[in-house]
Amino acid sequence: MNCDGYENMLPKKRVALLFYQASTRTRLSFEASVDALGGRKLTMSDMEQFSSEVKGESFEDTIRVVSGYCHAIVLRHPHAGAAAKAAAVSRVPIINAGDGNNEHPTQAYLDLFTIWQALNEDRLPDKPLNILFFGDNKNSRTVRSLATLLVSHGPALGIQVGRMHFGGPVGYGTPPNDVIEAIRTSCDFSLSSAPQSLSDTDIVYVTRPQKEYHGDTKIEVIPFTPELAALLPAQAIIMHPLPRTTELPVELDNDPRAVYFRQSDNGMLIRMALLWHLLQ
Ligand code: NCD
Repeated sequence: MNCDGYENMLPKKRVALLFYQASTRTRLSFEASVDALGGRKLTMSDMEQFSSEVKGESFEDTIRVVSGYCHAIVLRHPHAGAAAKAAAVSRVPIINAGDGNNEHPTQAYLDLFTIWQALNEDRLPDKPLNILFFGDNKNSRTVRSLATLLVSHGPALGIQVGRMHFGGPVGYGTPPNDVIEAIRTSCDFSLSSAPQSLSDTDIVYVTRPQKEYHGDTKIEVIPFTPELAALLPAQAIIMHPLPRTTELPVELDNDPRAVYFRQSDNGMLIRMALLWHLLQ
């Protein structure tokens, strides 16, 4: 992905990246985006170990302090609601880079962009799209953010959803009620543990078991195998926010319908656009 030529767009803007939870793509693509726009970054990962919260400082005080050093804060936190808490006390914009099992809005933007790209390249049919969310829909913040963004902002980009189907391990395939409430008036909606009607599914969005929210419970992983992928139409895409475990076999990587590495590439572009929009 060529992101060169934009390095004078955010000179003298500083972005703080505060990560209290593991991350590879989100942190590095935000860092790369700040660099590509000519901004400066203040990065702290392992915040749960190295910030002054270890000494007893409140999360709110940490945010108050950091917001005096920069023009925006990118925050990842294991607790749902942390981004809203931070926004309530920050003097600069807070970008939610994932808060517990709640939301991951920038992932949803890059996912929506990837779908829009595929539609414009005729890799998806020009009709209301049938989407299968397959995996830990109960705890995946990427699923909540994408499912709700698709119905709220998809139509403005020419993306119509016909049906959303949610499948996955028993007890984990069903998304939380607020997600169901947000989508059910906009498209057809169904639930089951097995992936259903693959022959008329246009987008499969696979997620890993979110074991960080499972305590001691071990959940069964149902892989989206090449055999299942063979049931999809030729005009379809297979998505995953990554990281993957065994739910997405590497054998699928050469399938022309697999777009998950494209999603991670698009992350940099989308985060550049967001930072520029907020800070220009
Ligand atoms: C996702 C997340 O952190 O929610 N990863 C990412 O940012 N691409 C998905 C996951 O961890 O399963």
